[in-house]
Amino acid sequence: MNDLRADQVSVAFAGLKALSRVDLAVAPGRIVGLIGPNGAGKTTLVNVLTGFQAATEGAVLMEGQSLAGLKPHEVRRRGIARTFQGGRLFRDLTVIDNLEVTGVGLGQSRAASIAEAEAMLDWIGIAHLAGRIAGALPYTDERRVAIGRALIGRPRFLLLDEPAAGMSAQEAADLSALIRRIAGEMGCGVLLIEHNVGLVLGLCDHIVVLDSGAVIETGPPEVIRASEKVRHAYMGSAADIDLPVLEVEA
Ligand SMILES: Nc1ncnc2c1ncn2[C@@H]1O[C@H](COP(=O)(O)OP(=O)(O)OP(=O)(O)O)[C@@H](O)[C@H]1O
Ligand SMILES: [Mg+2]
Repeated sequence: MNDLRADQVSVAFAGLKALSRVDLAVAPGRIVGLIGPNGAGKTTLVNVLTGFQAATEGAVLMEGQSLAGLKPHEVRRRGIARTFQGGRLFRDLTVIDNLEVTGVGLGQSRAASIAEAEAMLDWIGIAHLAGRIAGALPYTDERRVAIGRALIGRPRFLLLDEPAAGMSAQEAADLSALIRRIAGEMGCGVLLIEHNVGLVLGLCDHIVVLDSGAVIETGPPEVIRASEKVRHAYMGSAADIDLPVLEVEA
């Protein structure tokens, strides 16, 4: 009961069923993977879990309490943080200011926000970026800053929407190590959305596969790797290119 969960969540957009009775749970300190082809409903589910999108049916619960009707900033204050597909930093602010204003927005004093922002950049290993303008960063650094900003206020759950998109193998490996530390050292429950299936299989002990808004498979990496349903779902999709990774021991 100390988890974050979607319980039979459905979302309909004017005739399109983006999610159909989806169940998913993330426990503190665990990393759950959410995969599926383009348009499967992954971001929509993250939007529902973070108050950006109301569920048409079903419930979202954190530690047994419903989050229905809460606005995104209220969900954030409860301890559920996210990153966005494609960053969304405050582009004109420096890196440290991006983190600091987030702390202030969460109700911290300016001094406490600065202290936490500095400690967070240090913890992630990007203290050297503190004074850089966020909008001018290479996107791999931008992603790490976005994760740092999401971790301000020590959320209990972190939802990452394609954090490794466009990264090299080495950058993705570094990101994997960071995500492991977020779960292991902070005890944060992580939901990881990724098209890089190899990264997900290497990092997650439980994976949920969506296709056309429905859960088509769940289980540990070995079940996902062997699943004909998963293989079939990825056929002909834009993520086809990641398919060989399914064979690789991550
Ligand atoms: N606000 C919206 N209004 C109408 N349709 C939407 C809206 N948001 C998403 N959709 C549709 O819902 C479906 C699921 O979209 P979603 O963005 O959740 O998929 P995704 O799995 O995140 O895809 P990707 O891997 O491309 O990011 C798609 O068909 C999409 O076009
Ligand atoms: Mg998406």
